[in-house]
Amino acid sequence: MEMKDLGSLINTYDTAAGEAVGKRESHTPKIEAPATAKADEAVTVKVTVGPHPNTPEHSIRWLAVFFYEDGRAFNPVTLAKVSFNAPTTEPEITLKVKLARSGVIHALEYCNLHGLWSGKKEITVK
Ligand SMILES: [Fe+2]
Repeated sequence: MEMKDLGSLINTYDTAAGEAVGKRESHTPKIEAPATAKADEAVTVKVTVGPHPNTPEHSIRWLAVFFYEDGRAFNPVTLAKVSFNAPTTEPEITLKVKLARSGVIHALEYCNLHGLWSGKKEITVK
């Protein structure tokens, strides 16, 4: 049995291969955030997934949002972790985030049929 590292099991839009290629649009988390922000001033970060089925049999079960902060010794820090209850809740979250330094926001989602998918967005703090 091949023991893959967890990181290699995370699909991204650019690295998805084989059957996962057709799932990219519906599974890659989309991050809406300003390209620049002032230090320690709250900015809105919205993360969505889909359109994707939202049934008990097939849904986005959770989202986690992380921040890779420039210059930090150990990355990333967790910004939020949210579980969803299909068909009642849709996989969409909005956060207010205060950042001290520039970095990259990463969103990670889990679909019970199609696994782990991540997306990212750079944010420059001035
Ligand atoms: Fe799926």
